[in-house]
Amino acid sequence: MNLRPRQSGSFLLFVSALSAQLSAQTMHPSGNMFRPLATPARMVSELSELTVVICLSIFLVVAGLLAYAVIRFAYREGDSKSEPPQVYGSNQVEIAWTVIPILIVFVLSMATARITSAVQNQKIPKDALYVTVVGHQWWWEFQYPDLKITTANELHIPLSSTAAPHMTSLKLTSADVSHGFWIPQLAGKTDVIPNRTNTIWIDPQETGTYLGNCSEYCGTQHAKMEIRVVVDTPEEFQKWVERQRAAEAGADSDANRQAFLSSPCIICHTVNGTSAMGAIGPDLSHLMSRDTLLAAETPNTAANLRDWIKDPQHLKPGNKMPTVPLTDGQLDQIVAYLTTLK
Ligand code: CUA
Repeated sequence: MNLRPRQSGSFLLFVSALSAQLSAQTMHPSGNMFRPLATPARMVSELSELTVVICLSIFLVVAGLLAYAVIRFAYREGDSKSEPPQVYGSNQVEIAWTVIPILIVFVLSMATARITSAVQNQKIPKDALYVTVVGHQWWWEFQYPDLKITTANELHIPLSSTAAPHMTSLKLTSADVSHGFWIPQLAGKTDVIPNRTNTIWIDPQETGTYLGNCSEYCGTQHAKMEIRVVVDTPEEFQKWVERQRAAEAGADSDANRQAFLSSPCIICHTVNGTSAMGAIGPDLSHLMSRDTLLAAETPNTAANLRDWIKDPQHLKPGNKMPTVPLTDGQLDQIVAYLTTLK
């Protein structure tokens, strides 16, 4: 091939990009878009195969005819050097080169429309898992509204087998700029746009970890916006949900503890093992092991505790406990913390 420098440069670039892509996929087999493992990715993959086959056939026919003409009609020793007879205006040829491309374009656009509508109009069953994906610079937030779980960067979803189908429906939106959500083996690339919700669905057919990356340039750390999708068996997924809930409960109790420790309560009260070491009021280390509050004034329940802290002078006028200005949220957190002191 006699390529001009610019052509050969871009050709080499293309080849090196392609080989980099292929070797990356050997290193991360789970990111191989040529091995789709969920229905939307498989439909897109089949469509692209059809497109490639049609385009390749066109290329082979055109390149074959060209090669034939070049070889068959090449100048040979003893050929006349004058121009051969020229042909003008052939209805048959003109109709052929108009009608055939129109038919090809028609077939391609119909196939594309069919796949696009099949993916977009898919009915989402009621028992599907709903996840809201929020793109951030430069990380992913995954909210499971029905399960009351929020997590980041690693999306856990259940396996969908023919025996037990489990569809996952994703709502995609962004907290800042546009991002792109793409797990090559599970579903087609979808834009993640601020103030707009896009949706995709996936029904992964093999367990494992699937890799993806943000696929729309979104700032300097765009390349470090990896998405990991972990497909668990339904039992493992259930266990993961329970672990997340336990962890979130732990996170909550940490926040509650913090609310207590940053309140003025610690000036007067003690809770063993914390910075609360006041000696003016009762020690609260094992508060909930007591049946009553305020020295047997009232039963020790969370509601009474809350009333008491909210207005100490109402239940036992004249006592030394001051009214501490707290928001309802702080009050709830402090009560929640105190009820863990057993
Ligand atoms: Cu987010 Cu690119």
